[in-house]
Amino acid sequence: MNITDIRADFPILTRKIKGKDLVYLDNGATTQKPRQVIDAIAAYYDNENSNIHRGVHTLSQEATTKYEAVRTKVQEFIGAKHSHEIIFTKGTTDGVNLVAQSFGKKHLKKGDEIVISAMEHHSNIVPWQMICEEKEAVLKVIPINKKGELILEKIDELITKKTKLVAVNHISNTLGTINPIKKIIEVAHANNSVVLIDAAQSVNHTPIDVQALDIDFLVFSGHKLFAPTGTGVLYGKENLLNDLPPYQGGGDMIKEVSFEKTTYNCLPHKFEAGTPNIAGIIGLGAAIDYINKIGFDLIQEQEKKLLQYATAELSKIEGLQIIGTAKEKTSVISFIIEGIHPFDIGTIIDQMGIAVRTGHHCTQPLMTFFEIPGTIRASFSFYNTLEEVDLLIKALNRALLMLS
Ligand code: ALA
Repeated sequence: MNITDIRADFPILTRKIKGKDLVYLDNGATTQKPRQVIDAIAAYYDNENSNIHRGVHTLSQEATTKYEAVRTKVQEFIGAKHSHEIIFTKGTTDGVNLVAQSFGKKHLKKGDEIVISAMEHHSNIVPWQMICEEKEAVLKVIPINKKGELILEKIDELITKKTKLVAVNHISNTLGTINPIKKIIEVAHANNSVVLIDAAQSVNHTPIDVQALDIDFLVFSGHKLFAPTGTGVLYGKENLLNDLPPYQGGGDMIKEVSFEKTTYNCLPHKFEAGTPNIAGIIGLGAAIDYINKIGFDLIQEQEKKLLQYATAELSKIEGLQIIGTAKEKTSVISFIIEGIHPFDIGTIIDQMGIAVRTGHHCTQPLMTFFEIPGTIRASFSFYNTLEEVDLLIKALNRALLMLS
């Protein structure tokens, strides 16, 4: 498949913005949806709409079968051992909060430590702060260097026998840094602590095998994987999930309810209270089918080309500084331009059809570290083209002329 054919699968890519062709470079915030995903959602509402796990009637049975088939698809996609290790959530934030609350309630006590990194987005900081505060536990932070890489020597120092859990992102949403999660997992396990990997920004760029990496918990969002918003996945090893108390109470997560005592359902239902986003999860299944059809070889080849070309072209702009120059990097480029506020650039290039994210990218501590208010971030997906990089550069040069 070539990129022109791939782009034809994404209806929104033909949109005009202010009379110009849309150049969508905000894939770190959310990815666009292929026709196959949109059609799968419409087909569900056209033909099967009903509640799941609750009815003997045909529609409910069909919807349940389709919904549960996605669980198996996700299991295969991330290499999990069992499909009941896949918990559907609302997204990455929901998954992190689930683990922070359930794991924290059960296992954290005064003086225990949770380790995160200096390049986490707020979703992988605040839930840990909240539970640490409640339990009087301590939050430790793995520092980074000016290139935006974790300082590996500090890992052995920070992850100790006091560490109950390590929560780090696989890829930084702001810097594009690919973190050495294998090494972090090894150190954590050597200290008997468990690891949560935030794969929100990696699951669409790179294959992940949770068993090969020995990941304890993994979270990601559907909407950054070409699937609908409001969908996500928490993977957890069977024994760890069985050991955790439920996060929310309600329908589907129970076995027996009486006013005296309620017993809880088995995995995965124990963690899926209430009617889920059935249509969204069916869309997630279609998105995984789509990625499997395209294949990570093509995805990575195209994204590597985009990263290299965009880095080289952006570097030619006077006064432009790339924030995040790690050796291992994905197709996310944050930058600042001397003397110009990111919002001004973002607003002007929007007039030329270019969509980038500007601001702190939900990583305020990272902005503090680099001593900047925010960046302009161009985040590329496999459906982007080198011609779109040229349009970005042209738009930036025009914006600079207007602002100087
Ligand atoms: N975390 C998302 C981003 O990086 C929303 O834009």
